[in-house]
Amino acid sequence: MKKLIAGNWKMNGSLAANEALVKGMLEGLGTAAPKSDMALCVPAPYLAQLGALLQGSPIAWGSQDVSSQEQGAYTGEVSASMLRDFGCRYAIVGHSERRQYHGETDAVVAEKARAALAKGITPIVCVGETLAEREAGQTEEVVKRQLAAVIHLCGHCITEIVVAYEPVWAIGTGKTATPQEAQQVHAVLRAQIAAATQSPGRVHILYGGSMNAANAASLLAQPDIDGGLIGGASLKAPDFLQIVASAP
Ligand code: G3P
Repeated sequence: MKKLIAGNWKMNGSLAANEALVKGMLEGLGTAAPKSDMALCVPAPYLAQLGALLQGSPIAWGSQDVSSQEQGAYTGEVSASMLRDFGCRYAIVGHSERRQYHGETDAVVAEKARAALAKGITPIVCVGETLAEREAGQTEEVVKRQLAAVIHLCGHCITEIVVAYEPVWAIGTGKTATPQEAQQVHAVLRAQIAAATQSPGRVHILYGGSMNAANAASLLAQPDIDGGLIGGASLKAPDFLQIVASAP
């Protein structure tokens, strides 16, 4: 299974900066077949621009959130159908910043994942513990609880999701989980998914949290780390491409 390297631009970018960044990535990729699959998850206003810039390229695109609702009086929300209109392949759901700033619960995240799947969009389901939870020895309990809500609601469709393990204490801090710390949690998530599905297929389990050009190779060498969800380093074309090239 090819690794998947997804960029999460968060609330960054402009029409001009996006064009320069994407063109830098495409020029850096050249014509050689990339070692990893790639995706860029961008702020919703830029989906049309990214679709135009990435059309025909090996890089997929997606959003950073999706409504759990299909349509109606939900001011400010964007439905899976609307994302599909813009050619989105992925939608991040349950990012810790949305759980923190928007009060997204495990149940809401599961509803969002189901809404995305219903329209053929692959949800990138984020799970991860806070520093306090890790220090209290609750890491496995937390990530399994977060994923269990999605498994419970999505049933056999769970084989169509992507999971991202993002320890909250590693996001934007430069304090990356060690390859061994990350692998330990990824193995727990892998076992949880295997117990819930009959399909032998492997669900991508990405690592996110200060993955960068310097540490990507050691993380991606781990048997249950199937790629990365990259924040800061996805805003620099050379760094993102180095991560893409770091796959074993
Ligand atoms: O969704 C990925 C993001 O949370 C990781 O951010 O800047 O630590 O790579 P960063």
